[in-house]
Amino acid sequence: MGKIRFFLLSFLIVFFISSSLFAAQGDKEAGRKIYDKKCWWCHGEKGEGNGPAAEFLLPPPRDFTLGVYKYKSSPPGQVASDDDIFRMISDGMPGSMVGTAMPAWKDVLSEKDRWDLVAYIKSLTDIFESEKASGQISFGSEVSSSEDSINKGKEAFKKAKCFECHGENGKGDAVKKLKDDWGFRVWPRNLTKPWTFRAGSEPKDIFTRVSVGIPGTPMPSFADPKSETKLSDDERWHVVNYVKSITDDSKKIKEGEIVVKAKNIEGELPADVNAPEWNNASATAYQMVPQIIAKERFFKPTNDGITVRALFNDKEIAFLLEWDDRTKSIPGDADAEKLSEGEVFEDAVAIQLPTSIPEAMQKPYFGHGDKEMGVNQWYWSSGNAAAAKVIDSTGLGSGKARDAAKTDVKGKGEYKAGVWRVILKRSLTTANAKDELQFEAGKFIPIGFANWDGSNGEKGSKHTMTTWYWVLLEPKAGSKVYTYPAAAIIVLVVGQLWFARSMRKDYEK
Ligand code: HEC
Ligand code: HEC
Repeated sequence: MGKIRFFLLSFLIVFFISSSLFAAQGDKEAGRKIYDKKCWWCHGEKGEGNGPAAEFLLPPPRDFTLGVYKYKSSPPGQVASDDDIFRMISDGMPGSMVGTAMPAWKDVLSEKDRWDLVAYIKSLTDIFESEKASGQISFGSEVSSSEDSINKGKEAFKKAKCFECHGENGKGDAVKKLKDDWGFRVWPRNLTKPWTFRAGSEPKDIFTRVSVGIPGTPMPSFADPKSETKLSDDERWHVVNYVKSITDDSKKIKEGEIVVKAKNIEGELPADVNAPEWNNASATAYQMVPQIIAKERFFKPTNDGITVRALFNDKEIAFLLEWDDRTKSIPGDADAEKLSEGEVFEDAVAIQLPTSIPEAMQKPYFGHGDKEMGVNQWYWSSGNAAAAKVIDSTGLGSGKARDAAKTDVKGKGEYKAGVWRVILKRSLTTANAKDELQFEAGKFIPIGFANWDGSNGEKGSKHTMTTWYWVLLEPKAGSKVYTYPAAAIIVLVVGQLWFARSMRKDYEK
C-alpha cells in the first residue's frame, strides 16, 4: 500500500514539476524552430504580423513585437500571463468564416512545443523582461442565470454603455468607426452570435472579457477602478447572463442542413417582414463565402451567413431572407458614408434558381448557370427597397435584366437594429414556362443565395454567396413526395461540407 502511495505521489510530483517547468522556462530556441515552420506564414518572419497570408486575413495575424495580447485574463493594465498566451496557441480562435483564422494547435503540437512557442514569441518584444502578470482577475462568485439576473444584466448593459458599440440589440451595429492600436478597422462583436467569440463563450470567458476588456482594441475593461463605467463583480455576471440570453440560434449554421422547407399556408402570404406568420416557417441558416469564380480581387467579407424561411399558398411563394449586417448601406446616405472606408454601394441580396426543375437532382453550374441549364436570379437592393428585378443568365457574364413587364417577382426590405429582412415573392407558375422556373410541391429545387454589403465595397461580382442548396415545397398531405435514396442525400451533404471546407481553405490561404 505504502509503496503504491509513494509511487503515485512521486509520479504526481514529477508530473507537476515537469509541466510547470515547461511553463516556467519554455525553450525559446526550440520555439523559434517550430515558429519558422508553423507560424511565420501568417505572423511574419520576425513576428510583425506580416506573413504572406496576412493580406487575406481580417483581423490580421497578431504582431508580436508590441507584446500586446488581446485575450488575456490578467488584471487590466498588466501584460498577458504565460497561461493566457499558451491557451491562445492551444485553442486558437474559433469563429465563423468572418471570424478569425488563428488555428488551434493542441492536436498538432505537443504541450512542450506550445510552451516553447510561448517563450519564443515573448522574446520578440522586451516588455516581458520588465513586466509580469500577477495572475488572474478575481471572479467574485458566479451568478447563475435567471430572469432576474438577465433583467439586471440588461440594465447594466445600458449603464455601462455597451450599446454604444455593440448596438441596442447586441448586433454590433453601433454607429462608430473603430480602429485597433495596430491601425486596423475593428467591428464590435455581434453578441447574438456567441459562436464567433474569439476567446470562448462560456460564462467565465465572457466574464473575463468584460472584466479585462480586449487590450489593443476599443473594447474596455469594466473592472478597472479608474473606469467611469466600472461594474461590480455581480453586475458583470448579470451582463454575462444577459449576453447569453440574446443568442440568436436561427443564425447558426448547422452542417448538413441543406433544404429550405417551404411551408404551405392558407390565405394570403405575409407582406410584412415582421409578420408573425414567418415564425411558422422553419429557419435555415447558410454559410456565405466570398465569390471566387469570377476573377474579382479577393476581399474580406463582413457578412457570413443568411437565414432563409419560405411560405407558399396555392398561388404564390415568398422567401424571407434575413442577415445580420452592421451597416445599412445606401449610396448618398450620410450615416452610411460616415461608417464606410470607401464608396458606399447598395446592400443587396439575390436568390438563384434554375429555369426549370432539373431531373434527378442535377444542378446548373453555380456561377450563374450554364448553356444547358440557365438560371433566374431574383435581385433586391437597398436603393430600391420596395422592388425587385429578375436577371436571366446562362453562365458568368451573360446576365440580362428581364423586362419588368415579364415578371411578377416582388421585393420588400427593411433594416432594423443591425438586421436586414427582405421578402422576395413570386407566383408559383408563370406564363414564361420556357425560361422561368415553375414551382411544384414535393420536388427538390436547387436554390442559391448571394449577398452584398455595400459599405464593404461589395458590388457586381464582388459579393458573398452560398453553394447550391435545395428548396422543397411541403407536399400536400397524402400526395406522393419525390423521394431520393438515402445515399444520394448523403452524397449531397458530403458535397456541401466539402464545398464549405474547400472555400474556407482557399480563404485561409
Ligand atoms: C492561418 C494563419 C495563422 C497561423 C498559421 C497562425 N496564426 Fe496566430 N493568429 C492568426 C490571426 C489572424 C490572429 C489574430 C486574431 C484576432 O485578432 O482575432 C492570431 C493571433 C495569435 C495570437 C494572439 C492571441 C491574443 O490574445 O492576442 C497568438 C499568441 C498566436 N496567434 C500564436 C500563433 C502561433 C504560436 C502560431 C504557430 C504555431 C500561429 N499563431 C499560427 C493567424 C494565424
Ligand atoms: C467602446 C466600444 C465598446 C464598448 C463600450 C463595449 N465593447 Fe465589447 N467589444 C468592442 C470591440 C471593438 C470588440 C471586438 C474587438 C476585436 O475583435 O478585436 C468587442 C468584443 C466584445 C466581446 C467578444 C469577446 C470575444 O471573445 O470575442 C464581448 C463578449 C463583448 N465585447 C461584450 C461587451 C459588453 C458586455 C460590454 C458592456 C459591458 C461591451 N462589450 C462594451 C467594443 C466595445
